Amino acid sequence: MDVNNKFNAIIEQQLKRVEALKNAPAPVDFAKLEKVKIGFVDGDGVGPIITDSCRKVLGELLKDSIASGKIEFKDIEGLTIENRVEKLNTLPNEVLDAIKECNVFLKGPTMTPGKGDGLPELESANVALRKNLDLFANVRPVTVPEKNIDWVFFRENTEGEYALGSQGIDVSEDLAIDFKVITSQGTRRLAEAAFKYAKSAGNKNVTIITKANIMKKTDGKFLETCYDVAKKYPEIKTDDLYVDICSAKLIDYTSNSRFGVFILPNLYGDIITDEAAQIQGGVGTAGSANVGDRYAMFEAIHGSAPRMVKEGRGKYSNPSSMLRASVMMLRHIGHGEDADRLEKALDASKGKFNMTGRENGNTADELTDFIIKNL
Ligand code: IPM
Ligand code: MG
Repeated sequence: MDVNNKFNAIIEQQLKRVEALKNAPAPVDFAKLEKVKIGFVDGDGVGPIITDSCRKVLGELLKDSIASGKIEFKDIEGLTIENRVEKLNTLPNEVLDAIKECNVFLKGPTMTPGKGDGLPELESANVALRKNLDLFANVRPVTVPEKNIDWVFFRENTEGEYALGSQGIDVSEDLAIDFKVITSQGTRRLAEAAFKYAKSAGNKNVTIITKANIMKKTDGKFLETCYDVAKKYPEIKTDDLYVDICSAKLIDYTSNSRFGVFILPNLYGDIITDEAAQIQGGVGTAGSANVGDRYAMFEAIHGSAPRMVKEGRGKYSNPSSMLRASVMMLRHIGHGEDADRLEKALDASKGKFNMTGRENGNTADELTDFIIKNL
């Protein structure tokens, strides 16, 4: 296919997507479901270890709802690098079908083959799941109570540089072009979720992050659309920052507690939320919700750490971030009290465990047992 045809095919595909977004059916109210099926997807590397910690903790926390049939757990197998490479499919059909039987699911980190791994080039399973299930809002809270930091990041999760990440074009031996996609509909639904949350949390300040001085079309549309949604919320203080100065302001402790809610396009959200998680104590401490109108996926924000497992250190992995993601999942399905219980137990574990990922540290099991005892 020549370059022009490829480009035209991409435009057509994205215009179709816009039409689908315009005609999207009404969203499911997860908190009102009569029965909730929760999936557990292990993933790679330390994934099975930290997922198991969540399975044990949630099994204890939700035992009454499980006994009464209001909640059902389902283990979903096959989202492993071995199976994905064998099938040459980043999201094998039977795995996606099993996930779609659930309302929400917890997912351990999955490995993405990179250049030089000697593995076939597969799209990231995370990205494929977010796109296939249309999980458009990536919600990542970061709190440091002693510094008065209470931030929630709303990262767009299906567009930006990720939308066509595997469909860039090698125009010639020397020229490569990738694409960035922003739509009004995709931005609006994210901004609406962010403002709705900001309002429910006591009119928290909202900051829109872009690089609209350079990415004039895409980030320009993102910024404009977010400000348009802001008009419906005059009681909320809304401003915007470019992503470079945002990365600096996050670590300016004279003023960073003024931030509340951030709205960001996909790639800036990816980068800035790692920085923010580090401020909280590292990516191992932060949970993440990937929310759509029909499904929602909850996960750690860190990778699968295959080296830890290879070196026999898997049992020293830190399940905190996935347990934090479990708190978000519980809130999402209307189990606010259970969420509070788990959150308190997690907060109580702070400072008591030294999760170094090595023999000199605590194990995932030790932390899990403590959490269960303190629910
Ligand atoms: C994240 C991760 C993913 C991303 C990777 C694993 C594809 O870094 O969830 O932030 O880039 O979104
Ligand atoms: Mg990331």
